[in-house]
Amino acid sequence: MRVIDQSCIDNCAFTDMHDGDVVHLTLLWLQLRHHSFNMHINANTVLRLEDSAAVLVPYTESHVKVYHAWMGDAELLRLTCSERLSLEEEFSNMKSWREDPKKLTFIVLDAARNYAMAGDVNLYLNGEDGEGEIEVMIAETASRRRGIASAACRLMATFAFAELGVSTFIAKVLEDNSPSISLLEKIGFTETCRISAFKEVHLVLDVSGSEKGKAMIQDVKRKWSTESYVGSSLAERKYSQEQTTLR
Ligand SMILES: CC(C)(COP(=O)(O)OP(=O)(O)OC[C@H]1O[C@@H](n2cnc3c(N)ncnc32)[C@H](O)[C@@H]1OP(=O)(O)O)[C@@H](O)C(=O)NCCC(=O)NCCS
Repeated sequence: MRVIDQSCIDNCAFTDMHDGDVVHLTLLWLQLRHHSFNMHINANTVLRLEDSAAVLVPYTESHVKVYHAWMGDAELLRLTCSERLSLEEEFSNMKSWREDPKKLTFIVLDAARNYAMAGDVNLYLNGEDGEGEIEVMIAETASRRRGIASAACRLMATFAFAELGVSTFIAKVLEDNSPSISLLEKIGFTETCRISAFKEVHLVLDVSGSEKGKAMIQDVKRKWSTESYVGSSLAERKYSQEQTTLR
C-alpha cells in the first residue's frame, strides 16, 4: 500500500465549483490526509528475494506470541537493547508499530523451515528526511548463518528506498556484537563512529551516493518480488501448502 502523494491533491486544478463542492472536497482531502497518516506503507506487503529463504511479511497479531517468547531471552534483549514486556504490552506495541508512520516492521519467515517465524527487521524514520535506522534480529538459531538477516536487511533497504526515498541507512550496534558488525559490513555498511559511553558502534550505508550501495539496490531489484499479504495465517498457510506441493 502506498502513502497517498499530497502533491497529487495540492496540484489538482478545479474549475466550475460551487460552495457545496468545496465543502465536499475539503472533507475528502481531510479523509485522505487522515488515511495517509494511518495507512501503513507495508501493511499489505510480502517481500521475497530469489535464492534466499527469507520471506518478509507485515507484523500482525498472529506473530505476537512467538515474538514475546523470543524476547524472554536475556541475551536477545541485551543485544537488541530492548526491555522485557508483558504479553499485553507486546500486543499494544505491535498495534502502535503498525500505525506508526515513522516505523516499518517486517517479520522474517524462513521458507526452508516451512515458513516458520525466524526474526524481524525494523526501520525507524525519526531522523533527517531520507534517513532511517535499521535493526535486524534472527531469533531462531536454526535460521542463522544461512543469509537470512543479510537478505532481510537488503530487502528492507531496497523497499524503503523505492517507496519512501530513504537513501541513508544507519545501524547502531553494541561494540561486542561482532556477528552483527560483520553482517552489516558484508552488506556494504561502513563504521562511522564509536560512542564509548553507550559501548556502541554506528555504521552507515548510502544507497544513492556510494557505489556499494547503488550496486546492492540494483542487485536486489533484479532478484526481488513483492506480493499482497492476504491475511497473516492464511498467507502463511498458503506458503506452507506451496512448500508441501513442491516436495
Ligand atoms: C547477527 C544476526 C542478525 C545474524 O543473522 P544471520 O541470519 O545468522 O546472518 P547471515 O546468515 O545473514 O550472516 C551474514 C554474515 O554476517 C556475519 N555473521 C553472522 N553471524 C555471525 C556469527 N555468529 N559470527 C561471525 N559472523 C557472523 C558473517 O559475515 C555472515 O556471512 P557468512 O555466513 O558468509 O560468514 C543474528 O545472529 C542475530 O539476530 N543475533 C542476535 C540479535 C542481534 O544481535 N541483532 C542485531 C542488533 S542491531
